[in-house]
Amino acid sequence: MGYPTDRTVYFNTLELEHPDNYDLDAFQPDVIVHCGALTWVDYCEENPEESYLKTVQSAKEAIRLCKKYGARLVYTSTDYVFDGTQGPYREEDVVNPLNVYGRHKLEAEQLVLQEVPGSLVLRITNVYGNEIRGKNFVARLVKQLQAGVAFELQLPYDQYATPVNAYDIARMAYRLLADKKSGIYGVASTDFLNRYHLAHKVVRHFGANNVTLTPIDTPSLNQAATRPLIGGFVGLKFATEYPEFAFTSINDYLNQEFPQ
Ligand SMILES: NC(=O)c1ccc[n+]([C@@H]2O[C@H](COP(=O)([O-])OP(=O)(O)OC[C@H]3O[C@@H](n4cnc5c(N)ncnc54)[C@H](OP(=O)(O)O)[C@@H]3O)[C@@H](O)[C@H]2O)c1
Repeated sequence: MGYPTDRTVYFNTLELEHPDNYDLDAFQPDVIVHCGALTWVDYCEENPEESYLKTVQSAKEAIRLCKKYGARLVYTSTDYVFDGTQGPYREEDVVNPLNVYGRHKLEAEQLVLQEVPGSLVLRITNVYGNEIRGKNFVARLVKQLQAGVAFELQLPYDQYATPVNAYDIARMAYRLLADKKSGIYGVASTDFLNRYHLAHKVVRHFGANNVTLTPIDTPSLNQAATRPLIGGFVGLKFATEYPEFAFTSINDYLNQEFPQ
């Protein structure tokens, strides 16, 4: 595990008989939330077999487990199932992934929906928030800003998404599960930002004057995988079903007391 925490237990969906796997027979899950995937988008492009194994095959194994225990499946998917020409996206918009990662996430979400009745696919993007391992983009920036170190970043000005706090995703999943909802939900908070603006908000909040952010366009990054540019989600379906649910924003997140 790349980023274990003190609450992590071992479970490898690709080795269901591994002796170190958490004892699901004893636990008898009602719900399995499957987040496992190969998420390094450029690496996936150059290693499609490994990507298939860790994203599609691992989802197939999670499906097998759900069938065994009669559990519902929650699958975290992505806006990379779209081509980024017409975002932000609604649930029913036409999918057209541009890269291996997106194609494999799409294949996995379709299998989940076909194979496990009552399952939920939460399409998410640009996840940030407090996490013990502090690995998301915003948390890493915050850590560097707290440390006061000087740094420079070149960030795409043309990649738009709807950043969302992981805590909001968890609250949303809980509501949907409690109400026995199923199908696809695009998860959108209140922000629609490009990557540069997201970082800029964070840096400005900390008042750092030793940090240089340079806006660039995606082609100059020469990445192996093509990126969908205008992504993110509309979130209307969930908002219509749960009008009282309040998503937080990146500003709300920044205005909290950060642990040192
Ligand atoms: N973070 C985002 O902004 C975002 C956006 C859209 C969608 N998502 C989706 O949300 C999920 C979580 O994303 P993340 O950012 O937390 O990704 P992450 O940090 O790369 O975490 C994925 C985890 O899956 C584990 N894993 C891979 N194959 C597994 C298997 N067969 N059995 C058990 N665990 C396995 C990996 O373990 P190792 O470290 O040991 O390989 C890794 O810890 C992914 O499905 C991703 O596609 C995330």
